[in-house]
Amino acid sequence: MPFKIALDDLTPNNLGVIEKINSVCLPVQFDHQWYKESLEENQGHLVKYAFFNELPVAAIKARVITKKGHASPSFVYIDSIAVLEAYRGYGIGKKLLDWLVEESKTRFIHKIQCHGWKESVDWYVKQGFTNEGEVKGYYEKQGLTGDDANAALLSLEF
Ligand SMILES: CC(C)(COP(=O)(O)OP(=O)(O)OC[C@H]1O[C@@H](n2cnc3c(N)ncnc32)[C@H](O)[C@@H]1OP(=O)(O)O)[C@@H](O)C(=O)NCCC(=O)NCCS
Repeated sequence: MPFKIALDDLTPNNLGVIEKINSVCLPVQFDHQWYKESLEENQGHLVKYAFFNELPVAAIKARVITKKGHASPSFVYIDSIAVLEAYRGYGIGKKLLDWLVEESKTRFIHKIQCHGWKESVDWYVKQGFTNEGEVKGYYEKQGLTGDDANAALLSLEF
């Protein structure tokens, strides 16, 4: 059956949708304020929804990070990417990531970084990231137990 995947912006009216998607897909829970900050202008938040046949089923949330003392952005950090389980494997996660890559390039940013469980890092590696290895205690700080997080890095080519 043919399907259509489209991307759209975060607005005050649909803020609750990314909260819901993340809450059922991710082991980490974030509070409302964390999402609300994404709407602040000029703060370097990069958020996009993906729609499957008009239904919002996925979202990516990232931030432009500028290191202290630096004039220009250092990298983009992915806070979250999540696709509702029933809609995985349709290329939706890839489409959201492709959007982020293009957004990063328009800002002349050369790197995208993230952390994830080994399983999600395998997905990032499939998308061209390198697995930078385990980060001890990363999830413990967020009150989670289990395996350590892996860091992943994508170097963008211009
Ligand atoms: C990781 C996630 C975002 C991937 O989204 P998705 O829409 O299912 O991924 P896509 O369909 O775009 O996958 C693209 C390719 O990666 C492959 N792939 C999917 N899941 C994979 C995995 N866990 N490991 C390796 N490859 C994977 C697909 O088969 C596809 O391959 P192809 O291009 O050869 O056909 C989704 O599984 C998810 O939301 N997981 C739970 C939340 C999570 O772990 N998020 C990441 C940490 S924040």
